[in-house]
Amino acid sequence: MEKWSGKTAIVTGASAGIGDAIVRDLVKYGINVVALARRMERLETLRDQLKDEAGKVIPIKCDVSDKASIDAAFEEIEKEVGTVQILVNNAGIALMHGIFGDDDDKTDEIISSTINTNFLGLVRMCRKAYQLMKKSDDYGIIINIGSVAGHCASFEYIINVYPGTKFAVRAVTESMRQELNKLKDTKIRVCEISPGGVDTEIGGDSMNTPEIRALIESGVFPMLKGSDISQTVLFMLMTPYEVNITEMIVKPVGEKI
Ligand SMILES: NC(=O)c1ccc[n+]([C@@H]2O[C@H](COP(=O)([O-])OP(=O)(O)OC[C@H]3O[C@@H](n4cnc5c(N)ncnc54)[C@H](OP(=O)(O)O)[C@@H]3O)[C@@H](O)[C@H]2O)c1
Repeated sequence: MEKWSGKTAIVTGASAGIGDAIVRDLVKYGINVVALARRMERLETLRDQLKDEAGKVIPIKCDVSDKASIDAAFEEIEKEVGTVQILVNNAGIALMHGIFGDDDDKTDEIISSTINTNFLGLVRMCRKAYQLMKKSDDYGIIINIGSVAGHCASFEYIINVYPGTKFAVRAVTESMRQELNKLKDTKIRVCEISPGGVDTEIGGDSMNTPEIRALIESGVFPMLKGSDISQTVLFMLMTPYEVNITEMIVKPVGEKI
């Protein structure tokens, strides 16, 4: 990990769950982290909690589902840090709503924001971050957080277009890898991590009932911790520059899917 010390990472969705864990791990290795999310107060708390670590946290408000917000964040990022070497595209939402049923506007909004956050936002982040990586003329890595839902759309819960966005994340990660080959850009790697169930806030209140908590805690409903996925991010970073692990699927032992 020494090679990344003093370098700069951008982590989206840094205000909770997996993203929060990734920020906590990266700063231990002297990596400065631009932490992006909509809830600025959480990012500021994270920065304050990690102020004595080797790397610093730079909180910047950004709604990845909104192009103007991404553009504004990158103006600030360029001003604050100049260039970046690591991008972890982690921000994501999974809302439980069906596609059929009432032809209502609320469901349509959920469909749009799921696609805009999980897929379009991720692609736009890659496009913007790539420019700052090229400017640095250093080695760079993009790590996209997909899901096991990007391998198998069969779930007990109806989570709308979520699996479709995660299939798309896998596909676009491979397209980006091939495009970098065509550009003969051998300094920047693109990879994907597909987590299984992780115990975070993504399921909202439905995951916080005493019954569900009891199933998780007893191991009947096995779940990873955010830190398990951040360890996978560290593993990818530890590999030599010429090694491209294109994808890692990480499930809790005993996961049913
Ligand atoms: N938990 C799981 O079981 C699981 C499994 C497989 C894959 N994943 C993937 O892992 C990633 C992280 O999920 P998590 O489980 O850590 O969820 P989480 O605890 O709900 O955290 C989601 C993060 O994404 C951010 N976010 C959501 N919408 C955003 C937007 N429009 N703009 C900017 N940030 C946004 C949230 O920040 P703000 O609300 O402050 O903006 C939050 O920091 C997601 O891509 C998810 O699909 C999770």
